[in-house]
Amino acid sequence: MEHVSVLREPVIKYLALKGGEIVVDTTLGLGGHALMEAKAVGKKGKLIAFEQDERNLKEAKKRLKEFEKQIIYIHDNFRYLKNRITGCGIKEVDAIFFDLGLSSPHVDDPERGFSFMKEGPLDMRFDPRQKLTASEVLNTYKESDLANIFYEYGEEGLSRMIARKICERRKTAPFLTTTEFAEFMYSIMPYKKGKAKKVHPATQVFQALRIEVNDELNALKESLRESTQMLKKGGRIVVISYHSLEDRIVKHFFRELENPPVKDVHEGLYRVHGEPFFESLTRKPVIPTDEEINANPRSRSAKLRAYRKLRDLDPEEV
Ligand SMILES: C[S@@+](CC[C@H](N)C(=O)[O-])C[C@H]1O[C@@H](n2cnc3c(N)ncnc32)[C@H](O)[C@@H]1O
Repeated sequence: MEHVSVLREPVIKYLALKGGEIVVDTTLGLGGHALMEAKAVGKKGKLIAFEQDERNLKEAKKRLKEFEKQIIYIHDNFRYLKNRITGCGIKEVDAIFFDLGLSSPHVDDPERGFSFMKEGPLDMRFDPRQKLTASEVLNTYKESDLANIFYEYGEEGLSRMIARKICERRKTAPFLTTTEFAEFMYSIMPYKKGKAKKVHPATQVFQALRIEVNDELNALKESLRESTQMLKKGGRIVVISYHSLEDRIVKHFFRELENPPVKDVHEGLYRVHGEPFFESLTRKPVIPTDEEINANPRSRSAKLRAYRKLRDLDPEEV
């Protein structure tokens, strides 16, 4: 299935690109949003595009062929944003865009191991150059580490029980395929009588494994920090997230910058706040319309937040 770009209009509205500007697309995917960004900054502008998945990068390059002169492609994780951009001789940028998570080809190709609906290896790596796979996590991590991952990255209430059963079962045979592991999850999860099972009981654990394999939340935190340093005064940052863990990270990260504490007074009794570094452009997160969700069910959980940089960061204040 083709990847349909999510929340296209609000992305363009909040990136507010002008001709000649420099925009960073940290998650190029198949280049749907990038196409709009490249058009908006025009021939005098520049698009710096990160993508850690080589196959998506190749596809996006084909799609963006007519703009190739104005695009710098970076086949890397966006957690190295600052290093990679300054390495191109660029000191600051006008706008940065994140469209987190998976693209449709990831889910559709069973060989990538992201979907429990189709049989494939338990892989889940965005970047196959990396060593750690989901099967290695499941078959080698300690029981307590597995439980913590399922709890923290999957918000799974039965994390301890699941980790224990996984460790018992892998003594006899390692987990090798997505469908085999999904069936195992089905067999160990308690069945709630009378409740139609809309969500497969493996959903949260699959999310947790994917986040662990790709170290997604740490990469996001690091990249947000570097983004705030790379943006010009007046620069915009737009983030689309697809689950509450990512959205929470974005919201909390910018809350500090909208209302930066400068010092604790009377042993932390109250705090004096400094002048904001960033302002939020979206009081509430922007979500897709019913029409968009009907046309593209993958957009269902999308939340967009946008911010503008008001002044340079002072390391002594933050
Ligand atoms: C939701 S898709 C982006 C879709 C894109 N906006 C479009 O319109 O086609 C997310 C993409 O970001 C990539 N990605 C996810 N995390 C990344 C990271 N930390 N660094 C670089 N690319 C990443 C994934 O491989 C995937 O192709």
